Amino acid sequence: MSKVAELFETMSFGPAPESATAALEWIEQHGGVFGHWIDGGWSSTRGAELFDVANPATAGRLASVAQGSSADVDRAVDAARAALPSWSALSGHDRARHLYALARTVQRNARLLAVLETLDNGKSIRETRDLDIPLVARHFYHHAGWAQLAESEFGGFEPAGVVGQIIPWNFPLLMLSWKVAPALAAGCTVVLKPAEYTPLTALCFAELAHEAGLPPGVLNIVAGDGSTGSALVRHPDVNKIAFTGSTEVGREIRRATAGSGKALSLELGGKSPFIVFEDADLDGVVEGVVDAIWFNQGQVCCAGSRLLVQEGIAGRVHEKLRARMERLRVGSPLDKAVDMGAIVAPVQLERIRRLVQQGVDEGAAMWQPSWACPAEGWFHPPTLFTEVAPSSTIAQEEIFGPVLVSMTFRTPDEAVALANNTPYGLAASVWSENINLALDVAPRLKAGVVWVNCTNMFDAAAGFGGYRESGFGREGGREGMFEYLKRKRAVLGGEPGEADSVMTGSGEFGTFGSSHGATSGAAAVSRAREGSSPRSGLDIDRTPKLFIGGRQVRPDSGYSRTVLNAAGEPEAQVPEGNRKDIRNAVAAARAAASGWARSTGHLRAQILYYLAENLAARADVLAGTLTAMVGEEAASREVQHSVRRLFTYAAWADKWDGAVHSVPVRGVTLAMNEPVGLLALVAPTRHPLLGAISLVAPALALGNTTVLVPSERYPLAALELYPLLETSDVPGGVLNIVTGERDALAKVLVDHDEVEGIWYFGSREGVREVEHASAANMKRTWCEADDEPDGRHASRDWLNVAQGEGREFLRHATEVKNIWIPYGA
Ligand code: NAI
Repeated sequence: MSKVAELFETMSFGPAPESATAALEWIEQHGGVFGHWIDGGWSSTRGAELFDVANPATAGRLASVAQGSSADVDRAVDAARAALPSWSALSGHDRARHLYALARTVQRNARLLAVLETLDNGKSIRETRDLDIPLVARHFYHHAGWAQLAESEFGGFEPAGVVGQIIPWNFPLLMLSWKVAPALAAGCTVVLKPAEYTPLTALCFAELAHEAGLPPGVLNIVAGDGSTGSALVRHPDVNKIAFTGSTEVGREIRRATAGSGKALSLELGGKSPFIVFEDADLDGVVEGVVDAIWFNQGQVCCAGSRLLVQEGIAGRVHEKLRARMERLRVGSPLDKAVDMGAIVAPVQLERIRRLVQQGVDEGAAMWQPSWACPAEGWFHPPTLFTEVAPSSTIAQEEIFGPVLVSMTFRTPDEAVALANNTPYGLAASVWSENINLALDVAPRLKAGVVWVNCTNMFDAAAGFGGYRESGFGREGGREGMFEYLKRKRAVLGGEPGEADSVMTGSGEFGTFGSSHGATSGAAAVSRAREGSSPRSGLDIDRTPKLFIGGRQVRPDSGYSRTVLNAAGEPEAQVPEGNRKDIRNAVAAARAAASGWARSTGHLRAQILYYLAENLAARADVLAGTLTAMVGEEAASREVQHSVRRLFTYAAWADKWDGAVHSVPVRGVTLAMNEPVGLLALVAPTRHPLLGAISLVAPALALGNTTVLVPSERYPLAALELYPLLETSDVPGGVLNIVTGERDALAKVLVDHDEVEGIWYFGSREGVREVEHASAANMKRTWCEADDEPDGRHASRDWLNVAQGEGREFLRHATEVKNIWIPYGA
């Protein structure tokens, strides 16, 4: 047979290798040895500790790179600090010009960067050329736009400052762009640490950016391993840390930054479901699975690694998948016709093999194609597990490799329950030709991104990020910009360096919240057996209770605490809430959650207006209660502001709309503003009524359910809300109120796994402790030191409308979920 006829017979591809020459030449120009990029130039490698960077496809050495020491990190942070004033003082338009130049630079050097990425990471050239690098350029374009619009769109905000960014190895340059582009657009300066396996494109980019005119010190790259990252995280002169990587390291960083005043965003792991309903287009599904789990060898935080198939079609789906897997091509990633490249490093390959073996040992059925992977380099074949128990290791743990585990479900409810049955919440994919079904299921999935009939779609205009143990914060879009901005000091009030100064703390954890520790307000109360010490100065003896599940209930402890008035005399007794009361309150809030989250904004608005109406009707009583605590003048102002604040959030309840993003696909991407879920609210000491209302109202307006710990020192005003709540239409469990020792109750709340977010306005020590403890299940936190009686460290003036209400509160009460819906007949 002739050659052409033969080829038609087999239909096999010949090799189509991309040339590595330009990338290898770039490495050679640097002598194969790289220092760090600091203050617009290379650091010397003389005497530096070096580590090797390998090509995963050959296991051969590509280059040697300096291991960043803490002195290197210091120098880089100093350079970024020195560059900050002039960079942040540039107009938005001037920064936009720089970002545009970076976008164009990436496009001009696209081939070099794509090949270098493939050599360094082992991912296929098809992906680096067609996805990674174009998306990098897209991010710089998009953020050139945000820089241009900075003054008009982010008035009242200023740059977060010097930011430390730590990125992983799975999308090295893309992760750099996700972090660097918004930071530079916002006016921050950057020290970035690439992953130790893949530092080359970051170093190359820094050099190109310099040639494109980026001023020295604005972007610094320090290479190295986790110890370099740790030095950056702990550096006292860094204002914000942005991290992408494993949940384990994310947790460590959360603890290390607790109470430091550093802002933090974490993009962590996932175990994302890929849900296939029986009416789905199964050929589309199979190609979707290829993109979900074999894209980038499955080394993707949002990989669709759990296939959930409706029972009736599972056999057919598995059969089609096996046929497709048999035809996947694994090989040299520089070959343009290859589907899957190499695994980044031997340690990752080992981890994948270990988990695959564990899957087999735990009784799941494993299937791999008949062909063998290349013997040279670090490859792993695509792997399918069926007969997987939902609780097994491979169904729960992130494998971060080309390994798909498949399970079945019968009903949509079962699919949702299975999908949400992991501690993660990053992404999900839903496949059905029935748009009603898909759009019914999408909002019920605990995930920051949901793809309908598609998967692994990314764009700079659509925020990306997770819930729960997948981290917090979003990258991309308007919400991503806020990660690099903070309120202007002029708006914040207070003396420079007070509210925001970096606090080091004692370093001791564990005494916080231990019963009756010395915390603010403790001096103002004393404990008594319930009813044993009558109040003085009041006509009728009342015995306030807790408010849980829509009812007033006695505290579990049977204790009360005596509250003092402004003159320091005993005023009343309030219940001493304890762990059991908090558990009951959380259970009540949990039970009310789905109904309240699904209620309409119109309904929530009506309820908040009605609360305001009743509050106004009881203004005299409330002012009387408050007068005893905070004095007459403050009392009446506080009541008026509270009514107004309820009106504000009643107004917002049906206006806090999401968005439809313009992403470059044929379809729509819906950015839905969803409630965070179950929020614990620890109210400020001062402004006993207004402080509580300022937290409760935005949370309720957006559909969160809440447990409120009112001002420890002056709790009575919050208790005056009980009759209002009882006569309003606030469903039982939506707002629960537990009085007692603030920090003891905060500790129980932050340790509770079902609490999804905590807002804490208390002591500086409390801020540190709450942030530290939140790492256990990666709760979202919003913590500010607010309890100094003289207001010295208070972060905000609650009577000031610019500080006490508005979009900032709404953002903290919201999770943005992006739902991608491509269409086409
Ligand atoms: P990792 O979380 O250790 O590494 C990510 C980055 O963090 C790297 O730049 C690393 O040098 C840095 N780092 C490590 N320890 C640090 C510390 N104590 N302080 C500051 N920075 C630190 O992830 P690794 O070890 O590379 O991969 C292990 C597993 O993590 C993977 O198998 C995968 O399951 C998960 N992972 C998830 C990623 C994601 O995109 N969500 C990315 C990379 C890994």
